[in-house]
Amino acid sequence: MVDPIPNPSLPSTQDIVSASGLQPLSDQDFRAIRDLIYEKSGITLSDSKKQLVTSRLARRLRVRGLASYREYYELVTRRDPQGEELREMLNAITTNKTDFFREKHHFDFMVSTFFPQCLERAKTTGEKRLRIWSAGCSTGEEPYTLAMTFLSAFPQGGQWTLELLATDLDTQVLERAQGGIYPEEAIAPVSDDLQRRYFRRGTGANAGKVRVSDALRQLITFRQLNFVEHPWWVKGPFDLILCRNVMIYFNQDTQRTIVENFAQRLRPDGYLFIGHSETLNGLNHLFEPLRGTIYRRRILGEPETCTTASAPPAPAQRPAVGRGEAGPVPAAARSTPERPGLASRPASAAAPAQSRPRSNEADARSLPKVNVIIGGVRASREPVILRTVLGSCICACIYDPVAKIGGINHFMLPDGLDERTMPTRFGVNAMEVLINEVLKLGGDRRRMQAKAFGAAHVLSDVGLSPDVPRKNAKFIKEFLQAEGIPLVSSRLGGSAPVEVVFTTDTARAMVRALGDAVARDLAREEKSHDLEIKKQLVLPQQSSVELF
Ligand SMILES: C[S@@+](CC[C@H](N)C(=O)[O-])C[C@H]1O[C@@H](n2cnc3c(N)ncnc32)[C@H](O)[C@@H]1O
Repeated sequence: MVDPIPNPSLPSTQDIVSASGLQPLSDQDFRAIRDLIYEKSGITLSDSKKQLVTSRLARRLRVRGLASYREYYELVTRRDPQGEELREMLNAITTNKTDFFREKHHFDFMVSTFFPQCLERAKTTGEKRLRIWSAGCSTGEEPYTLAMTFLSAFPQGGQWTLELLATDLDTQVLERAQGGIYPEEAIAPVSDDLQRRYFRRGTGANAGKVRVSDALRQLITFRQLNFVEHPWWVKGPFDLILCRNVMIYFNQDTQRTIVENFAQRLRPDGYLFIGHSETLNGLNHLFEPLRGTIYRRRILGEPETCTTASAPPAPAQRPAVGRGEAGPVPAAARSTPERPGLASRPASAAAPAQSRPRSNEADARSLPKVNVIIGGVRASREPVILRTVLGSCICACIYDPVAKIGGINHFMLPDGLDERTMPTRFGVNAMEVLINEVLKLGGDRRRMQAKAFGAAHVLSDVGLSPDVPRKNAKFIKEFLQAEGIPLVSSRLGGSAPVEVVFTTDTARAMVRALGDAVARDLAREEKSHDLEIKKQLVLPQQSSVELF
């Protein structure tokens, strides 16, 4: 046990205790309270925080008329069926420091890079809606700053809509955020122009205070969310998530789970901003560091290091075992310029690859390349290279060899559910969507053929039960048989994750095995995806399309 380091700016435990008549917090009670706080909020408190816990909870003891921290602990754990005191305890423990335009470079980045990219995207998609989440918003300065930044960049909205969600664990700070009333000094970092536009100065009893204008307040939805209570009710996909100066209070495991949850709720090219003293070290498989504390979500399977078309594969990434289909690629049958024109799927299902597939590139032609992530489906009438990286999941390639139309999906059946809950419906849905895409593009059902890959037993100790790959493999074979679609080539099972690169017009599928590092990352991704799809079994249907 480390002795707490005295902090001269804080009253000592003894001061607090003697001033309030409370019994001192014993080491044993401190550890019990600390463990409870960790369990309920993820906040980790080192031994040196005993004084902080003493002072922050002293008021709660007085409110409850208790003399000892032991009694308080017993109240919260045994005599608080509605969790009211637990909420008060967590409210007292959270650190809510925040400011308008805190870490201003994030808002500068929005103006210089993020908004222009959204405007560019809107030219092709027509989508003029931005979804931003201030996760751990405290008293609201952060979401209000986001709203001001948006309105400055899109005066009168410019036909754009902003859906701005702001969440926090602490119910008290949420109330203050919703009220939007601040002391005048708080808006010192806001420019005069924005102050004039978005703040009203109080008079009389409210002198010295300012109130945020309705124009800002109506852009924001404030709600409570505790990051350690799963599953999260928040739905994506978001264009941008800010989780700044929050994860610093959590241990690495909690941080990892939170960041994985963010990744699932961001669109493939979406951004995550974190606080100045935080890092996503060890999570580079999910996020690409851009600059400082600005990250962009990776498309699943993108290599951690940036590659170019000519970059040779790193030795460790070369095929570890034989290919599913090997052999030289025929010379270009026809030259195809890079172009969009792919069958459109929801943005979260598939996205253009930001770097080319590396060593497994099967086609010498300069074709558009698209990465398909877990849960995604993609098909195309134009020749295109579709790529995905699989562990226990399945990638089915469906194509019409005459029309030269093909596509792939990437799916899995949920873990640990019995037949009554119809886990196969996820597979059926993924297959039907793919088949329908190929049909819509002009494919003929009678000529359809299939290839299937995946269902590897990847590191089940960090991921899913060994049942998942077995059920996935069984499902795809039975499905294709029942549908009368010949399975002309497959590589299912084994223990290595694989990269599949499928060229839609030639139906050539190249498969290569990947190493343990990828296996571990994939196992985690699949585990998170499994939790996501299970939610769909319990949530009402419409909630899966609601943003929040
Ligand atoms: C220091 S403030 C950060 C405010 C703002 N993001 C900023 O950077 O200025 C940290 C916030 O995280 C919230 N928080 C702590 N634990 C949380 C949890 N388990 N779930 C959600 N929010 C949490 C706290 O209530 C607090 O308001």
